[in-house]
Amino acid sequence: MGISSLLLAGAVGASAQWSYTENTDNKVSVVVNGYQKYQTMIGGGCSGAFGIACNQFGSVGLSPANQEIVTQTLFDENIGGLSVVRNDIGSSISSTDGSAFSILQTCPSTPSGPFNYTWDGKDTCQVQLTKTALKYNPDLFVYANAWSAPGCMKTVGTDYNGGLLCGVRGSNCSADWRQAYADYLVQYVKFYQQEGVDVSMLGWINEPDFNPITYASMESDGFQAKDFLEVLYPTAKAAFPNMSIACCDATGARQERTILYELQKAGGGDLFDVATWHNYQSNPERPFNSGGKQNLMTEWADGTGNWNAYWDVTGQLAYVLYTLKPVVPCTNMANSEGFQWALYMHNAFVNSDTAGYTHWWCAQNTTGDNALIRLSYDEYFISARLWAFASYFRFARPGSVRVDAQTSVEEVYVSAYINTNGTVAVPVVNAAHFAYELTVDLFGVNVTTATAYLTDNNHNVTMVEQFAINGSTFSCQVEPRAMKTFFLE
Ligand SMILES: *[C@@H]1O[C@H](CO)[C@@H](O)[C@H](O)[C@H]1NC(C)=O
Ligand SMILES: *[C@@H]1O[C@H](CO)[C@@H](O)[C@H](O)[C@H]1NC(C)=O
Ligand SMILES: *[C@@H]1O[C@H](CO)[C@@H](O)[C@H](O)[C@H]1NC(C)=O
Ligand SMILES: *[C@@H]1O[C@H](CO)[C@@H](O)[C@H](O)[C@H]1NC(C)=O
Ligand SMILES: *[C@@H]1O[C@H](CO)[C@@H](O)[C@H](O)[C@H]1NC(C)=O
Ligand SMILES: *[C@@H]1O[C@H](CO)[C@@H](O)[C@H](O)[C@H]1NC(C)=O
Ligand SMILES: *[C@@H]1O[C@H](CO)[C@@H](O)[C@H](O)[C@H]1NC(C)=O
Ligand SMILES: *[C@@H]1O[C@H](CO)[C@@H](O)[C@H](O)[C@H]1NC(C)=O
Repeated sequence: MGISSLLLAGAVGASAQWSYTENTDNKVSVVVNGYQKYQTMIGGGCSGAFGIACNQFGSVGLSPANQEIVTQTLFDENIGGLSVVRNDIGSSISSTDGSAFSILQTCPSTPSGPFNYTWDGKDTCQVQLTKTALKYNPDLFVYANAWSAPGCMKTVGTDYNGGLLCGVRGSNCSADWRQAYADYLVQYVKFYQQEGVDVSMLGWINEPDFNPITYASMESDGFQAKDFLEVLYPTAKAAFPNMSIACCDATGARQERTILYELQKAGGGDLFDVATWHNYQSNPERPFNSGGKQNLMTEWADGTGNWNAYWDVTGQLAYVLYTLKPVVPCTNMANSEGFQWALYMHNAFVNSDTAGYTHWWCAQNTTGDNALIRLSYDEYFISARLWAFASYFRFARPGSVRVDAQTSVEEVYVSAYINTNGTVAVPVVNAAHFAYELTVDLFGVNVTTATAYLTDNNHNVTMVEQFAINGSTFSCQVEPRAMKTFFLE
């Protein structure tokens, strides 16, 4: 059989698997099956990298009282519900763009040292961000992520301008700096420990498939990732056995899967704990090849358009306009409205078993669209994107397990999560421009009451109804272009 007929057979087979029925009424039936379990959730989050955390803590005029309110709005279990903070392990020697400083300002001439690490206790306001977030969410998942190794450990001699870590295949350096880099990363975690903060996950590279030249960056394919992870993984586990190791924050889900295939080919499939990826250059779309390990979306934002705080008004797609983060042609632009983010998250959680979703910046002084909360002097403005996160993560808390949820119509998106104490979250997104009557049948859950929280253009995760569940079934309306989360107890 020729290749074209093989392809044709494949295409026919794939399209035949998808079917739909024409929908003549406004009813949707949903089946939640608590016996069919999928991924364990980590949660939603954001970052204060590149000095942006300082915006949240006074550098642009936000008063101490509002610094607390903004941080509480993001991380409180009953408001924004976030529980991941992604910190930037700085590699900069002389920062001009707000990049975080390296804890190794002067490098020894060889990897045998000595290493003179320094710590200012601030880490470009990321210590304050982390500690304040911890105050409102004691279960905070702290992701410490380096964009690059210090320049002295790389082929290019600088932390910016890409290049390879010396010691990985193809690096052709006079010395092998892999152990030095692993020790340096562990030292950063120790400095946080000294501040009373446990780092939950350690990452050693950012967007290794992309060389932006202007800011901290390091390149790596999956084979080179194996060459470093075989040093980092045992080093980090010896120092912090409970800390997860991430790989590899690629620019897109497909790009991440390519790295993972190579890592596995090189024999490194067990040298990481969580597959981390960004949503810029490709959507998740399908399960990850992570060998059963969790995957986490660790960075995405519109990044190019004007500030858009709406839930569902403009349907805006971003324009390409250079901000701090350069935009590559063909980048997968995020529509910036809350409703769209609700669907992005649904698709990742359901189609790709993604354990959580991390927006790019938390709060930023800006007129652009890179943050969940926009700051201007002492004012703050909350985007509806945060309400999309909250509609999932106020109710599907860290440690919850996604279970199967089937829906009878495509435009009503349903997922379901069982919390560690047996309560259940059922977030529903209705993309139709009319209300649907929803009937939910429950299997394998033990609940008696439902409370519904509505988010649309006029509601921000607002409690709207509470009712008893009759046996294992309940019915309820879902408003048009809305997200409604049912919390079942
Ligand atoms: C805050 O943002 C505004 C608007 O973008 C800008 O004009 C101002 O310079 C910024 N303030 C600081 C301190 O960066
Ligand atoms: C270590 O680095 C700090 C900051 O760069 C410097 O002030 C100090 O003199 C260095 N100590 C040694 C022993 O080199
Ligand atoms: C490796 O480095 C040596 C010494 O600097 C140089 O002569 C050689 O061309 C390099 N090889 C590659 C493949 O870059
Ligand atoms: C690892 O986690 C376990 C369970 O939470 C805890 O008992 C143990 O002390 C932790 N170990 C370290 C080194 O933090
Ligand atoms: C919802 O939040 C937005 C900011 O995202 C705010 O402007 C609006 O007043 C809030 N609406 C309600 C009903 O609380
Ligand atoms: C169960 O956990 C959820 C999510 O953390 C919480 O909101 C709820 O109050 C808990 N319920 C009980 C009965 O402990
Ligand atoms: C359901 O929960 C109730 C109260 O927590 C408990 O008494 C009952 O045994 C549970 N039923 C099942 C089937 O788990
Ligand atoms: C509860 O469900 C039963 C059948 O499952 C039905 O006969 C009854 O009318 C329902 N009650 C309410 C209040 O909906």
